[in-house]
Amino acid sequence: MSSLKVALLGLGTVGKGVYESIIQTHEKKLTEAVGKKVEIVGVLVKDHQKERGIKKDILVTTDVNQILKLPHVDIVFEAIVGIEPANTYIRQFLEKGSHVISANKQLLAYKGKELAEVANKYNRFLTFEAAVAGGIPLLRTIIQLLQVNGITKLEGILNGTSNYILSKMRTEQSNFNEVLKEAQDLGYAEADPSSDVLGTDAFYKLMILSNLIYQKQPNWENVNKVGVNEVSQADILIGERLGFRLKLVATLQKKEQDVLAEVRPVFVSNEHPLYNVEGVDNGIVLNTDLVGTLLLQGPGAGSLATASAMIEDLVYISQKGTPNIQTPRFSYNSLVEGKEEPSIW
Ligand code: NDP
Ligand code: HSE
Repeated sequence: MSSLKVALLGLGTVGKGVYESIIQTHEKKLTEAVGKKVEIVGVLVKDHQKERGIKKDILVTTDVNQILKLPHVDIVFEAIVGIEPANTYIRQFLEKGSHVISANKQLLAYKGKELAEVANKYNRFLTFEAAVAGGIPLLRTIIQLLQVNGITKLEGILNGTSNYILSKMRTEQSNFNEVLKEAQDLGYAEADPSSDVLGTDAFYKLMILSNLIYQKQPNWENVNKVGVNEVSQADILIGERLGFRLKLVATLQKKEQDVLAEVRPVFVSNEHPLYNVEGVDNGIVLNTDLVGTLLLQGPGAGSLATASAMIEDLVYISQKGTPNIQTPRFSYNSLVEGKEEPSIW
């Protein structure tokens, strides 16, 4: 049986989840879905000294050129941290003919459109289901909905770490710093957790959603962004006594030609769909003009939830073959502003 050759850029919380799912836990299921064995041929890391515990025949390197030099890599998973060098690596792999699956929100919020253009140029997929709302199949659902519905407003809990902290501060009266440490130990938090607690991570995800839904982003300076870092136990407990829960809510809506966006802690009543979204879960409320209001909820962070979304992308790409830039009106690639017929990422 021929194999689908993949490389992993990053073997941290997310990369390891992808590795284990492909090699160990989900090998059989994946072979059936893809029609080939998925073979990991290379892994890029930063620190060669760390013990990895992975199969001996897989190339593990700190030099991306070693992976770029491999004769054929069908799909690359990018799960490293920050804009560079991930941006450069993704371009190099797309140019070389690999499809790319990324979990890197920061990079996609900043450079998503440019990268989508590179992917289009080389007729490759660039997909990123894992970059927004962890394991929830949110982007795919939005793409499908947009073929029939207009999305008038989105409200979401988009950061699992913040929601975990707020939930534990309420249910167990835990101390902010202790719960943040727990979220880090569980693999929910970013390498730099200030991105989680200052609302920046939720903001990046909101900007990716803005590109996808409205084909543009608001001016970042006009987006009010407040995190959970200044929330006190007293705020949470007073809210609870009055029947409210505090949630870090990201909001997106179009007003005439403008896109309005905001990230801030909000008290929600028990009638609000986000009230029961607890722990590391994310929840996204979509107000649409045909189906009405939808709530999507599920694990928003963590190794296996994120791996699930990335591997769904792998199956999607392997089943589609190559992007068809002519047909789909709405697709991952609607990041490319002003394009009448955006291509698939
Ligand atoms: P980790 O810090 O756990 O892992 C990062 C991995 O990338 C490590 O293996 C590290 O190498 C490697 N790496 C970092 N910088 C470089 C570099 N310059 N060159 C080569 N390798 C590098 O992060 P996560 O796995 O948690 O997150 C990875 C990405 O996925 C981030 O962009 C994050 O925002 C995103 N993400 C994370 C989620 C989560 O739940 N954790 C969920 C969704 C997305 P080494 O092992 O040698 O240190
Ligand atoms: N740090 C992120 C969060 C990971 O807690 O939501 C998932 O994107």
